[in-house]
Amino acid sequence: MSYQNILHEISERTLLITINRPDKLNALNTVTISELNHVLESNMHNDDIQVVVITGSGQKAFVAGADISEFADFSGEQGRMLSKNGHQLLFNYVENYPKPVIAAVNGFALGGGFELALSCHIRVASDNAKMGFPEVTLGVIPGYGGTQRLAQLAGRGKAFELILTADMIKAEEALQLGLLNAVVPQSELMNKVNEIAEKIKSKSPAAIRHAIVAINANYTDGVDGYATEIDEFGKCFEHQDFKEGTKAFLEKRKPSFKGTAQQS
Ligand code: COA
Repeated sequence: MSYQNILHEISERTLLITINRPDKLNALNTVTISELNHVLESNMHNDDIQVVVITGSGQKAFVAGADISEFADFSGEQGRMLSKNGHQLLFNYVENYPKPVIAAVNGFALGGGFELALSCHIRVASDNAKMGFPEVTLGVIPGYGGTQRLAQLAGRGKAFELILTADMIKAEEALQLGLLNAVVPQSELMNKVNEIAEKIKSKSPAAIRHAIVAINANYTDGVDGYATEIDEFGKCFEHQDFKEGTKAFLEKRKPSFKGTAQQS
């Protein structure tokens, strides 16, 4: 299927999604959010995919935010719906996706772009990338999970500072704050992302899926992370990947996993 605002391709068990509105610095409008949801949903159970990579088109921006032109006239209720739909269709969806999602941050990651990167499981940035939450300059606050996820990753103090001042930070500073997993020259960005993806692809897809559920449980209201870990740990034992992983260890060979996202 072809989309208006995104490109997608599958290669070597990686689904690469490129947000493709370079003339608008890949700003997220509602069509783009729906298309991202659609491509993720339709590939959720695709066993040919083990890792998802999200990046932006061009060399300037990952995503420069939600599309300001789309919501400038919104009422309070429309604002609430915009935020709620975004959480549901994209940001929470990515965070809870059963396959690892890596953000390849190739330039500006502002507002909703920073929030999209923060929703991903792993973030790699090019050294020209800049990120931040300019929202208070527009008279609004981050509405796609930024107030929560920035504090989770960098601490409440830094979240207050970055959101209240609207300061943009460079990739190196974001790395020091624990907001990024790696920073590389732009020409090396996809190599670094692929290097991480290759490591993940050699592991058990089933175990990785259970790990995502367990890690996220700590950040979900009303959910006991330790109880979730016990449950997800137990589920691993029922999966053929576990039999293969332990057998391979005992036989002193590399495991050959057949695990799929659908199996428990
Ligand atoms: N929403 C809608 N359009 C956006 C956008 C956004 N978030 N960010 C950039 N664009 C558009 C610009 O309007 C411009 O379109 P035009 O050529 O039709 O006028 C185009 O993308 C290029 O942006 P421009 O501002 O000319 O590039 P720049 O290099 O001078 O500045 C930024 C780059 C990222 C600093 C600047 O675009 C910016 O501040 N963007 C808004 C960031 C923001 O507030 N995001 C949070 C939204 S809640």
